[in-house]
Amino acid sequence: MADSFDAIVIGGGPGGYNAAIRLGQLGLSSACIDKRGSFGGTCLNVGCIPSKALLHASERFHEAQHDFAKLGIKAKVDLDLPAMMAQKSKVVGELTKGVEFLLKKAKSEAIVGEAKITGPGKVEVKLADGKTRSLTAKHIIIATGSDVAPLPGVTVDEKQIVSSTGAIALSSVPKKLLVVGAGVIGLELGSVWARLGAEVTVVEFLDRVTPGIDLEVSKAFQRVLTKQGFTFHLSTKVTGVEKKGGGLKVSVEPAAGGEGQVLDADVMLVAIGRIPYTANLGLQEAGVALDKRGRVVTDHHYRTNVPGIYAIGDCREGPMLAHKAEDEAVACADLIAGKAGHVNYDAIPSVVYTFPEVATVGKSEEELKAAGIAYKVGKFPFTANARAKTIMATDGMVKILADAKTDKVLGCAIIGPEAGNLIAEVVLAMEFGASSEDIARTCHSHPTLSEAVRQAAMGVEGWTMQM
Ligand code: FAD
Ligand code: NAI
Repeated sequence: MADSFDAIVIGGGPGGYNAAIRLGQLGLSSACIDKRGSFGGTCLNVGCIPSKALLHASERFHEAQHDFAKLGIKAKVDLDLPAMMAQKSKVVGELTKGVEFLLKKAKSEAIVGEAKITGPGKVEVKLADGKTRSLTAKHIIIATGSDVAPLPGVTVDEKQIVSSTGAIALSSVPKKLLVVGAGVIGLELGSVWARLGAEVTVVEFLDRVTPGIDLEVSKAFQRVLTKQGFTFHLSTKVTGVEKKGGGLKVSVEPAAGGEGQVLDADVMLVAIGRIPYTANLGLQEAGVALDKRGRVVTDHHYRTNVPGIYAIGDCREGPMLAHKAEDEAVACADLIAGKAGHVNYDAIPSVVYTFPEVATVGKSEEELKAAGIAYKVGKFPFTANARAKTIMATDGMVKILADAKTDKVLGCAIIGPEAGNLIAEVVLAMEFGASSEDIARTCHSHPTLSEAVRQAAMGVEGWTMQM
């Protein structure tokens, strides 16, 4: 096997494997190295895919228990958690094998092992059998992703005090689940276990859930989750946790300080963010600059300060999302091959896969205000959408923000059924620099949820018709 490549990609997640695939398409040889033992990174192994499998299964379970009767379907359903977990693992197994196939097809050598940069164009891989393999390449792409951010003073055992990795593999439904952090992971995995019967309490440091998301939508989101049984302690911090009598005693107090209280839990999920993963990679020795948050510093062509070394995905700045990593992978490979590569960071959607889903793209109302940009808003509630009525999913709305002068779409936030799919239309519109009127005058099939997007776009100029 050759030990010299055009490019070496360190990390086999959505950043790494897509970079290797694109390099192959461009006629460049590559090796893609991952130490995990199976390819696909955080996303396929312990992130996007297993969490979405459980979100789907738990939603069906909850629906069968609570909504079928309203549709005239009588059913008695029982939970078979081991089977649900087995289905999740099957999907993960198939998709990670799929990545191996794609790497092979792209003629990229998939290597299982821990990679370290040992000099310009040089990478050493510690293989599973303890042997070391020395590789060389003109280009090295760092795509090592991210890891769970630790909560100071709390030790994750992945059984009772879990990160997302333990929370997608619990062997029984906890009676009481305490979630630290009302971000994406906390609310998605909190939803899974709430639907399966857990009492879910969320402790959030800030005074709102899902920071960064349009505030009006975020408040609506919190209301819906509260209706579903979630309890929120906002502006609150966890100060300690003690294992006692088989359960957990979690000490919390107001974020600003003050009198604390102790909350009981069976399982505690720590979901306070993720940090870039760049340990033991030889970056310091190679002289690759990191920023204050430990992220690899790059220019807009993904070049680090060391010639021939690039970084993409979660380990560099920007949202920690699989599709952002994938887009950077394509752009980086294109640039290495001498083509034009570019990512439009104003048009990267973000989706929370709860029920209802929450999807956003572009600027929020708060961001536009802060930037002093004059804007118009169009909104449409799902209560007025015919399809939402037929599927009994009327919670939520579509909100479109457009430039007050030019009508160019600047942002969109959707809370509602299928929000993650609905946002794609707005992302495409933004990619093409469309106006809200372009969306409003586009024919949308009836009866679909997408009509709510059109009606919201009409609302920007005040001609919403179905309200
Ligand atoms: P990763 O996927 O983290 O891959 C990096 C890989 O590099 C890892 O496999 C690691 O083993 C390997 N590696 C690290 N160091 C070395 C080394 N020295 N040698 C060899 N290999 C190394 N994003 C979404 O867009 N949608 C979602 O629905 C979603 N859900 C998520 C759910 C959860 C529970 C979590 C935790 C994350 C979720 N994410 C989601 C985020 C998403 O997983 C990440 O943004 C994405 O995986 C980043 O891709 P990446 O290629 O940069 O890094
Ligand atoms: P997050 O950044 O989404 O949310 C973390 C939350 O924890 C924030 O609300 C923050 O204010 C709060 N917090 C921080 N420190 C705290 C403390 N000490 N006590 C209480 N609250 C505290 O991070 P999360 O949920 O861990 O997810 C990590 C990343 O993974 C996300 O940012 C996202 O990029 C990615 N992800 C994406 C998903 C998707 O696209 N659907 C799903 C899951 C994860």
